[in-house]
Order: sequence, then structure tokens, then C-alpha cells
Amino acid sequence: MELQPNDTQKLIQDTARGFARDRLAPNARMLDREERFPIEALREMAGLGLMGINVPEEFGGAGAGVVSYALAVMELAAACASTTVAMCVTNMCAELICQFGTDAQRKRFVPRLTSGEAVAGAFALSEPHSGSDASALRTTAKRVGDRWVLNGTKQWITSGAHAGVMVVWARTADTGGRGISCFIVEKGTPGLTAGRHEEKMGLRGSNTVPLTFENCEIPVDHLLGNEGDGFKLAMTALDGGRVGIASQACGVGRAALDASVKYMKERQAFGQPISEFQALRWFVADMQTQLSAAEMLTLRAAWMKENKLPFTREASMAKVFASEMSNRACDKAVQVHGGYGYIDEFPVERLMRDARVQTIYEGTSEIQRVVIARDLYRAHDARS
Ligand code: CAA
Repeated sequence: MELQPNDTQKLIQDTARGFARDRLAPNARMLDREERFPIEALREMAGLGLMGINVPEEFGGAGAGVVSYALAVMELAAACASTTVAMCVTNMCAELICQFGTDAQRKRFVPRLTSGEAVAGAFALSEPHSGSDASALRTTAKRVGDRWVLNGTKQWITSGAHAGVMVVWARTADTGGRGISCFIVEKGTPGLTAGRHEEKMGLRGSNTVPLTFENCEIPVDHLLGNEGDGFKLAMTALDGGRVGIASQACGVGRAALDASVKYMKERQAFGQPISEFQALRWFVADMQTQLSAAEMLTLRAAWMKENKLPFTREASMAKVFASEMSNRACDKAVQVHGGYGYIDEFPVERLMRDARVQTIYEGTSEIQRVVIARDLYRAHDARS
């Protein structure tokens, strides 16, 4: 694994860094305060190739690989995690359709995601009663002639009210995980309704809604992958998605560290900048060490995915570690800022609120540990 980015990776990283600095950072506080979904920024990101970084160019993607994707997400999330989560889920949907779609599905839906025409993609797996236990989902899809008819409710759907293209999981048979299938659903399909926007602790610029399907009819060729393979599609997509969340966590944690160092060098106490106090030096030294380790784990998982190696365990390790270190860094950053860390004039209180969900969505820390331990036992059994 190369430790230095190659030319393509550097180009994507620089593009994301410039966009984050010029377009995302100035608006992040306003989006958070006003709970405003960043439609314009998402379209501009599509124009820069950031909505399909690991998607082949023939479908409008940048074809730049998974390491480029991780590097870009780190840059963007440091400026605005709300915008970045919508970007991540869009990339995830585009990749999933590329990987499992028919030629017709790829040509029809992927360019809409990568070009910004669809604004964003949405990933509709969770339901009110099934989050961690994803295979317990109850939404149904029944085949009626040349249509699939969907009924049920999805919960916590990122960009759900705005996404032009969604991937939706539903039960096509009563056989547990093996009875789940995946479908592509377009915004505006009769029978599909987005519910009330959730007022969240953080990521307040990101749109989060329930989706209701009431006799929602979609064409039969909107089935993605084979009937009954939906759960495996979800798990495959989530492996990649977890690299994205780990990257977001690295970006947010890094922003908290940068803000802390800046503040410590400016703030005076007892006749000197507070950066001179050993207690605070230890804070930033630990933050730097932990975040560097998180970045290495994340880039390793990205590199393994890019090189088509099994990376389920590595993605979960990156996600659990990066999200926990990001939360730790944000908490320390608030402490470093004292009272100023608790008000919205400084960015660290928003960073702390934005970081909190990282140990929850795309699989809680507890689920990541389940995945890691299972894979470890499997590898052990295979050796003995
Ligand atoms: N890749 C491919 N296939 C996989 C897989 C993977 N990583 N993991 C499991 N599978 C397959 C298994 O091989 C098995 O196949 P067979 O039936 O052929 O044997 C099948 O899937 C079932 O596997 P498990 O027995 O391991 O399934 P389980 O019910 O025990 O669940 C779980 C495993 C890891 C707990 C899973 O349910 C899970 O990841 N839960 C968390 C769900 C989650 O992350 N939700 C996030 C919502 S999306 C989101 O947050 C997006 C957003 O908007 C930000």
C-alpha cells in the first residue's frame, strides 16, 4: 500500500480541499442553524466529479478509485459534515447500481446521480423497528403482473425528501434475510411519501425523513440484482459505506484538532498562550496520534476495497475506531475551548454534535464489533 497519494488521488484531494474551503466552510454554520439542505453545493460537487468518485467515467463518474474517495470525504467532512453525508450516500447508491445493476439500469440511473440531476441518492434499509437487525425489515414488495407493489415504512432516510433516485429494500418472501430484495425507486412515484424532517442533534443540514410506501408501484425491471439477494447487496454496500463514514469521522476529528491548536495558540492564561501548558499539549498529542491511526486504518480499508481484496473486517475496524476517535477529539476540543467551546461562535460545538451520530449510523459501534469478531473467529476456524 502506497503511503503517498498518486497523481489522481492528489487531484481529487486538492479539488475537494479547495471546494471545502471556498464553498462548504463558509456556509456550514448557517446550514446547521437553519437546517437547510445544501442542494446547490451538492450539484456543484457533481460538476466536480465528486458524486461518483469510484464510478467508471462511462457512467459520469470520476473513475478515481476508493482511496481518492476516502481522501475527498476527509477534506469535505472537515468543512461540513452535513453536506458530506449526502454526498457519501449518493456515491454509495451510484456504486451499488453500477455493481449489481443491469446495463439498462446503469445507463439510466447512475448518470442521474453522478451529474447532480437527481440531487442526491437515498439508501432506504432501516425501518422503525429494524435498525441493527436489518434482516427483520417488514416492508413488502409483491409482484403483480409487470409491476412490483411496495408497502411499508422506512426510517432515518438520509436525503429522503430530495433524492431523485433511491435504493429500497423490501421483503419478497417470508424467509428471513434470504427473502429480501432490493429495488430502485424514483422520487415522485405515486404511493411514495416523505414524512416530517427529523430535528436532529447534529448533521442538521442533512435531510432525514421517514418514507412511506402505500401501494407504490414500480416497473418490474427496477429490481436491483436477483430476487432474494437484497440482504447481500445491503451488506456489500454497507462495507463500502463504512469506509465513507470512517473518512467522515477522520475529517471531523481533524477539524476539531485544527480548531484546538489555533485556539490554544491565541488564548492567553496566566501570562502565556494556553498551548504552553502541558495538560493541553497532551490533549493535542493524543488527538493527533489517535486521528493519524484512524486515517491509516481508513485508507487501508479503502485500498483493500480498491484492490478487490476482502475488506469487511477492515471497513468495520476503520469505522468503529475512526468514529470513536473523532468523538473523543471533538470532546477534547470543546474542553480546550472552555466556555467558548459550548457556544456556537466557535465551530467545535457543531463538530461535537455532528460527530455523535458517527458511532450510530451505517452500523453502530456494537455492530461493527460483532462483524469484526465474527470475521476473526471465521479466519481462526479456517486456519485450524
Ligand atoms: N458482504 C456480503 N454478504 C454478507 C456480508 C457482507 N459484508 N455480511 C453478511 N453477508 C451475508 C452472509 O454471508 C449471509 O449469507 P447466507 O444467507 O448465504 O449465508 C447473509 O448475508 C446473512 O448474514 P448474517 O447471518 O451475518 O446476518 P445477520 O442477520 O446476523 O446480520 C449484521 C448481520 C452484521 C448484524 C447486519 O444485520 C448489519 O450490518 N446490521 C447493521 C445494519 C446497518 O448498518 N444499518 C445502517 C443503515 S444505512 C445508513 O445508516 C445509511 C445512511 O443513511 C447514513
